[in-house]
Amino acid sequence: MSDLIAKALEVLHAGGLVAIPTETVYGLAADANNPEAVEKIFTTKGRPSGHPLIVHIAKPSSDDLLSDDAWKDLLLPWVRDISPAALALAKAFWPGPLTIILPKAKNVLSQVTGGQDTVGIRCPHHPVAQELLARFGGGLAAPSANRFGRISPTSAEHVREEFAGQAIMVLDGGPCEVGIESTIVDLSRWDQLAYVILRPGAISDDMIKAALSQAHVKMPTQVSHQLDVDQPRVSGSLSAHYAPKTKMFLYPAGQLSSALPSQWHAKNKLAWVHFDFNQTVDSDYVKTQKINVVEKIIPTQPGELARQLYALLRQLDQENYDAIAFEDLPADVSWDAVRDRLGRAVVGSGF
Ligand code: TXA
Ligand code: MG
Repeated sequence: MSDLIAKALEVLHAGGLVAIPTETVYGLAADANNPEAVEKIFTTKGRPSGHPLIVHIAKPSSDDLLSDDAWKDLLLPWVRDISPAALALAKAFWPGPLTIILPKAKNVLSQVTGGQDTVGIRCPHHPVAQELLARFGGGLAAPSANRFGRISPTSAEHVREEFAGQAIMVLDGGPCEVGIESTIVDLSRWDQLAYVILRPGAISDDMIKAALSQAHVKMPTQVSHQLDVDQPRVSGSLSAHYAPKTKMFLYPAGQLSSALPSQWHAKNKLAWVHFDFNQTVDSDYVKTQKINVVEKIIPTQPGELARQLYALLRQLDQENYDAIAFEDLPADVSWDAVRDRLGRAVVGSGF
């Protein structure tokens, strides 16, 4: 791996792109201080310009993980106002699957911030990403390594599928542990809004709340619960995203029959994705109507489903079904992040 990292560093220093493993999803990385290199990310992904990118940074040495000064040194090139809340969250969750939106420092490229006054920063946990960042010595701008609107890659193989025919170096760090993108928390409007979660992920609202409270971070006196109309652009907030090409729909357990498209034909092939319980009504329906189904049983733990979700959606796309019926997820907040991705995948599916 060390030799491959040396090669990746050469590519990055020369203004090229390298796909890198992180614990969430694979990223398509470029030197965050090189405008031409950053431009290549947009053209390669087919991503509209103006969508901001996350800057990935190295962690402090292990003795300094809880030192305010060590984190400040790492953030200083990117962030102009390093608040107590930012330090509390960095110390609690970095390296890890959290992106923090903060007021940007003067020299951060506008291609990276999408012309906004804020910048998204993440210190990833994956050892390959960390070794690369430590040896690179700067920040790496990296969106998920998928074509715009499509499913994020959770293995090196997925990245190769996304950019087949393009000579992009891929560092293979194995399958991603978390499997869905980082939680994004906006701290840039703290005085009006305290913190706002722009994208749910493995770091939950409760975990953020607890970390701020444990660090005795002073909350703003008057929090407005109205988000500005002028919200920052987040492509992860588009209603259609992370989408398979096969038409997909959600159905509540026991109601597969009423959710199936009305013109459904006996010859059609359905991928039936469900939890391994409460199936009697749906099973009976499938049997009596002789519906041509392939069943996929999904895990009952939200973290485990998050880890597998994107690989499953890719596999379903390759298996060529006429539709995917996906059992609705439980209403509990612990499913919020994976429910968010699944909902967007449904809206964007079938195109
Ligand atoms: O887990 C992740 O966050 C992965 C890995 C590679 O780190 N990255 C990722 O990047 O998901 P991307 O570009 O696919 O999604 C990042 C999201 C986008 O929706 C972008 O609009 C938003 O973060 N974002 C970045 N900077 C922002 C900013 N300054 N203000 C608001 N949103 C921002
Ligand atoms: Mg993405």
